[in-house]
Amino acid sequence: MVATKRDYRTALEYLETFKKKDGLSVSELMDSDVRGGLTYNDFLVLPGFVDFPASSVHLQTKLTKKITLNTPFVSSPMDTVTESEMAIYMALNGGIGIIHHNCTPEEQAAMVKKVKSFENGFINAPVVIPPETTVAEVKAMKEQLGFSGFPVTENGTFPGKLLGLVTSRDVQFLEDDSVAVSDIMTKFADLTTGHKGITLSEGNQILRDIKKGKLLIIDDNNNLVSMLSRTDLMKNENYPLASKSATTKQLLCGAAIGTLPTDRERLSLLVEAGLDVVVIDSSQGNSIFQIEMLEWIKKTYPNLEVIAGNVATREQAANLIQHGCDGLRIGMGTGSICITQEVMACGRPQASAVYNVCKFAEEFGVPCIADGGIQNIGHITKAVALGASCVMMGGMLAGTTESPGDYFYRDGKRLKVYRGMGSIDAMQKTGKKGNASTSRYFSESDKVLVAQGVSGAVVDKGSINKFLPYLYNGLQHSCQDIGVKSLIALKEESAKGNVRFEYRTASAQLEGGVHDLHSYEKRLHN
Ligand code: IMP
Repeated sequence: MVATKRDYRTALEYLETFKKKDGLSVSELMDSDVRGGLTYNDFLVLPGFVDFPASSVHLQTKLTKKITLNTPFVSSPMDTVTESEMAIYMALNGGIGIIHHNCTPEEQAAMVKKVKSFENGFINAPVVIPPETTVAEVKAMKEQLGFSGFPVTENGTFPGKLLGLVTSRDVQFLEDDSVAVSDIMTKFADLTTGHKGITLSEGNQILRDIKKGKLLIIDDNNNLVSMLSRTDLMKNENYPLASKSATTKQLLCGAAIGTLPTDRERLSLLVEAGLDVVVIDSSQGNSIFQIEMLEWIKKTYPNLEVIAGNVATREQAANLIQHGCDGLRIGMGTGSICITQEVMACGRPQASAVYNVCKFAEEFGVPCIADGGIQNIGHITKAVALGASCVMMGGMLAGTTESPGDYFYRDGKRLKVYRGMGSIDAMQKTGKKGNASTSRYFSESDKVLVAQGVSGAVVDKGSINKFLPYLYNGLQHSCQDIGVKSLIALKEESAKGNVRFEYRTASAQLEGGVHDLHSYEKRLHN
């Protein structure tokens, strides 16, 4: 006999009779003292209801108590990841870059200054030449650099007193290559210049009016300070998500420092350069050195936002929250270049670290950054679902056009170096003990350096101008599948138990990956 089935129109009513939603709440997933720590790959988020387009999902989130970003993307303070170029494009795309400190304080401050003085469209470090440069030299520079408009300044310095401009038209048909550019350049008196402070659209309009390829921008003392180029203007992209200061409209910039007494002087230079947020960079943040540094910074620079860390437990976090940090960086031993867990026997699987620390920090309104081990968009979604506000990425952003270092070829692949800050290479960068990298690992006085990271290579990923929009769109689609309209909703609905989870067995992980193909190509975006 066939059992009578329920009327299909009562499916929703019937669903109501279940005491529990399908799957597990985040607390059921994570709060087990006996099961062992979880990683991002150990669980999945269950799908929800979709009644909105992915493009409407908001990814706004907090970096620190006072700083809100339009995306959760933060680049790691590593010398193969974040210098000024990376920090500029991270900020333009709605994230923030944290400039590494494995360099002199002056070099680091100059990088911060470059980010803070960046104006989209303006060339802030133009190649300039002295007046005695010969035409032959200009032609050679054109060959090498691919462009030929060179401002001529006194002594060839930048910024420096502007004397004139030489362009390809000036040198093209000259037969005597030994002539100095001072004899053939358009002289300062005959140049139309723009004044420091003009906007991009004003500069653009002048370029249109004068029908020239270059507009040189000068200050009150006729010093060249930047330049506009018509070809660059045409290529200019719009960055609606850019992370900017509400008052100065400058891009936001972060930088890392250590916990040594000399780091106080370093910080003063960074603050002078316009720093918005400082990261106290230590692999184990729960130390007296960090607490003293944190207290000193809050007292000396009350308006500077301070991110402390790294931590992986509630106890570590409590100490730093108690001493006034504005944000926390979570992760110990989970970075892609990291051997800390293996060598030190110390650390924590990242999903457990993120969940436990974020849950505690949330009580005090301290935003958390999940740092290390982010390998794909799904990991970002999971970090936020576990309570993180932002994610810090090293390996994901290494090998991009904007990361420091030159490309090289090996085995037919275009590569860039990516190394841990605790690798021997990074710790020996300055050739002497006591550099920033050794202090991150409390190793400045060691006779034998004990590596906590490796040095390797990653493949060319192209520009982050393409990669970050890929992460952004992917994250929007991920939220859509889960049925949440923002990152904030993802965090909140997860904490309330409405976003549901499930453990992923080893075979579930195999099932969730590509399988049973003879071969395939994994292209992540167009
Ligand atoms: P990734 O995004 O997985 O490549 O991890 C980057 C993170 O690893 C950084 O933000 C640091 O927290 C951490 N890290 C950087 N260098 C080292 C190292 O040498 N050993 C251990 N962890 C490191």
